[in-house]
Amino acid sequence: MKIAVLPGDGIGPEIVAQAVKVLARLRLDGLKIETETAPIGGAGYEAAGDPLPEATFALSQQADAVLLGAVGDWKYDTLPRDSRPERGLLRIRKGLNLFANLRPAILYPELASASTLRPEVVSGLDIMIVRELTGDIYFGQPRGISTLENGEREGINTMRYSESEIRRIGRVAFDIAMKRDKKVCSIDKANVLETTELWRQVMIEVAHDYPAVELSHMYVDNAAMQLIRAPKQFDVMVTGNIFGDILSDEASMLTGSIGMLPSASLDANNKGMYEPSHGSAPDIAGKDIANPLATILSVAMMFKYSFNDQGTADRIDNAVKKVIAAGYRTADIWTAGTNKVACSAMGDAVVAAL
Ligand code: IPM
Ligand code: MG
Repeated sequence: MKIAVLPGDGIGPEIVAQAVKVLARLRLDGLKIETETAPIGGAGYEAAGDPLPEATFALSQQADAVLLGAVGDWKYDTLPRDSRPERGLLRIRKGLNLFANLRPAILYPELASASTLRPEVVSGLDIMIVRELTGDIYFGQPRGISTLENGEREGINTMRYSESEIRRIGRVAFDIAMKRDKKVCSIDKANVLETTELWRQVMIEVAHDYPAVELSHMYVDNAAMQLIRAPKQFDVMVTGNIFGDILSDEASMLTGSIGMLPSASLDANNKGMYEPSHGSAPDIAGKDIANPLATILSVAMMFKYSFNDQGTADRIDNAVKKVIAAGYRTADIWTAGTNKVACSAMGDAVVAAL
């Protein structure tokens, strides 16, 4: 198993270091894991003048899976758009054809009180957000900022989806639902946007191949409201790129902290990039207080989806459950009466539990 490790910016290096400790521990048990590290995002820009250096992309292409920390720092916000860290992330997603982004939002019972919602609203929560990742307004042409004849500036982005792009993400969502509670809620804004009217039509067509799965549709604004009102009504949610970006941040807070949410981004052959759903948090970078669990749980997803090794995935998941049950908490999930630990100490605790 060759893993390209791309720590990135902000808290990226410190959370990825904890996941690498977990990999090292697994290696002791005989798993043949090789890792190679390369810069991406702001780190790529510093090293090679490019947020996705050619060597980093080549390494990621050759690897069996990619482990990514996070990209972005305010200090790069004034660079030309193509040089900014986020461009590196979008280019590697597109370049590796990672169209299916899986973002599970699961509540650990011990963390119910860390959520900003009442425990009875969130306890038992287990949602899988399936977000399309290589299309939509993120990549649609035309785009840009131009100057009109009257001298005023205009900004343009284009929401576009082809039928085949919608169909392939639909299939991923239905396949996953078949292994869960067999419910798919497709998110759109079909009352206003034609792109998502097509989205809804294609989802209905895909559903014909999955008679056991119950398909429902919800406008994105209502979905944002329902996620807060009664989140347990959802099993699998399937969304376009921009709606999924927004709703997955919202769903993460149901679980207590965005620091708990892993993700997998897969291509058609289950080659994948694994990263926490959260960002680079430059405000707390280098302080050893970030929560590494989303990154460690992303490694569990790597074993499940790319290496087809459910046993190792379960081992990692169980180790995380154990440290949470034992009361270990980073600052973002700390509540009175629990044991506040640093990022590196949390990593050590997971390794010990393994
Ligand atoms: C995410 C992030 C990215 C996105 C940014 C950093 C480009 O918010 O992975 O959700 O918008 O997809
Ligand atoms: Mg986001």
